[in-house]
Amino acid sequence: MARSVLITGAGSGIGLATAGLLAARGFRVYGGVRRPEDAGALEALGVKPLFLDVTREEDLLRAREYLEGEGLYGLVANAGIAVAGPLELVPVSAFREALEVNVLGTFATVKAFLPLLRASRGRAVLMGSVSGLVALPLMGPYAASKFALEALADALRVELLPFGVKVALVEPGSVATPIWERSLRRAEGYLESPPPGTEGVYGRYLEVARRLAEGNARRGLPPERVAEAVYRALTEPRPKARYLVAHPARARETRLLRLLPAPLRDRLVARFLGA
Ligand SMILES: NC(=O)c1ccc[n+]([C@@H]2O[C@H](COP(=O)([O-])OP(=O)(O)OC[C@H]3O[C@@H](n4cnc5c(N)ncnc54)[C@H](OP(=O)(O)O)[C@@H]3O)[C@@H](O)[C@H]2O)c1
Repeated sequence: MARSVLITGAGSGIGLATAGLLAARGFRVYGGVRRPEDAGALEALGVKPLFLDVTREEDLLRAREYLEGEGLYGLVANAGIAVAGPLELVPVSAFREALEVNVLGTFATVKAFLPLLRASRGRAVLMGSVSGLVALPLMGPYAASKFALEALADALRVELLPFGVKVALVEPGSVATPIWERSLRRAEGYLESPPPGTEGVYGRYLEVARRLAEGNARRGLPPERVAEAVYRALTEPRPKARYLVAHPARARETRLLRLLPAPLRDRLVARFLGA
């Protein structure tokens, strides 16, 4: 019988591409969506949609009950949002939402399905980001959430060793998905009414943020590249702890920025932002 995999956030972007690729390669795939209108695209790929908001424990428990009968080999905790902007202008509530979905949502998802993964000696794949390796300005809340996933993956990987459950973190660079447009729309909501005393202070940065988001959406890798990395994490006999998926230049830049002393690193990053 085909091995079962559940992917959260499967209605668009990387999750949708991964669901399609895994189904085409013989997995029995369940895709988490939040809206009925997202179910059709999954069904057309041979993927069974499950209604699942990762911030709602009752959704997670319902999905686990549903899958208990047939078991679960793979969990791809992919659901995520991007919250961006100059930190002084980002409302605490928006930052909290990034942590709620990306960090606690991932944690709650893993926690809910671990009994099934332990039973199958299966695999958990978490969706990190190069933003979890290098925090660029204007990406503070998003980067903080993805740095947290680096820690979560490290702790989980070793905790689950005795049970034969393998944990991998996929770290994509820019990928052409709706996340950037959604992040801009979300930011416009709070940037239009900046806290008193900050009006006009960050004007130029906002333009930079817009340009970066548009560039990411236009020049990003196809989501299928990330789907390939997820497939490898689920099928390689010895999966890597981390799969960095980025343009070679971006991967080199990420590694370099992590090695440089802070003053030099900061000058390079500031130039990159046109500061
Ligand atoms: N695109 C990139 O450049 C990039 C780079 C590195 C990492 N990533 C990561 O890749 C993952 C997928 O992002 P994407 O680029 O494919 O963007 P996307 O197309 O916006 O997909 C994000 C998915 O997460 C879902 N989601 C959001 N909040 C959720 C919640 N509370 N419960 C369940 N699902 C929820 C969304 O569902 P709705 O449609 O219902 O909102 C959507 O299906 C994210 O974790 C992201 O951080 C993306």
